[in-house]
Amino acid sequence: MQQTRHPYRKHIFVCTNVREGEETCCSRRGSTKIRDALKRYVKDHGLNDAVRVSQSGCQGLCEEGPNVMVFPEGVWYHHVQMKDVEIIIHAHLEPFKRCEPASAPVAIRAFLFDLGNVLLPFDHMRIARRLAPFAKTSPERLYHMFFESPLQELHDEGKISGKEFYKKSCEKFGLNLSFEQFTEAWNDIFWEDPAMTEMVQKLRARYPVIGVSNTNQLHFDHAREHYPVVREIHTWILSHEVGARKPDPAIYKRAIAAAGVAPQEIFYMDDRLDLVEAGRRLGFVSEPFINAQRLILKLRALGIEI
Ligand code: FES
Repeated sequence: MQQTRHPYRKHIFVCTNVREGEETCCSRRGSTKIRDALKRYVKDHGLNDAVRVSQSGCQGLCEEGPNVMVFPEGVWYHHVQMKDVEIIIHAHLEPFKRCEPASAPVAIRAFLFDLGNVLLPFDHMRIARRLAPFAKTSPERLYHMFFESPLQELHDEGKISGKEFYKKSCEKFGLNLSFEQFTEAWNDIFWEDPAMTEMVQKLRARYPVIGVSNTNQLHFDHAREHYPVVREIHTWILSHEVGARKPDPAIYKRAIAAAGVAPQEIFYMDDRLDLVEAGRRLGFVSEPFINAQRLILKLRALGIEI
């Protein structure tokens, strides 16, 4: 078995189960039409690389059907009718559409890339799996404790050092391990995307290429040491150095200054849709990252040779 990142940005499961006899089921309440409408939207808007609509078997909630579940949000819609499809699209899929490039021609003169899940794929769950045995708890529980804790924010904003973060994490989550063991597990989240490394190598010869990331010193130092793409970036603007995390305008202002061009001339790519929207509000040509292939298509559509 191999484990990797989920290949889609959104995965929607529509129950189309048919139950025998007179039993209540989603299929008999019209769920196949709902599935088809969602699939059609995805196809018509060219979102096949990013969004998957799958029919599922019984979700165990037959009386509440038709049932639709959306991931990674973990949202459950029940008693869904055809008129609700638009609401689901608006809530989960339209942000992709709103991020389509402006039709007016723009002259891109600089690039701004996020680090995690753009230049380097990552998975926080790896940390939870590595650290769980030291906390005598499950990886899932540790994951929620860690990544919903304000400690993570303080660390990303550089308000506590790596060593302080380690000490406070041990106290708060009952971890029992050395700092070296902790950093080894903490840093084990990234892996290389060779297509993105090649992309940055090509772009950096012609444009300023700036990195902007919500990250902490432990992760960033590790990424810079082990992944060439990080070293290919001309300038890094990092939350733990600026003392502010995206979407705080302070961090973007630093990035604009580093790019040395007007915001409208910056192509910005992030994996989080709220940050893509924040970039658009600042005037960037802002796109959600799906994969390197889609990025190439977007750049070519903007007249950039790649
Ligand atoms: S048939 Fe849809 S949840 Fe059971």
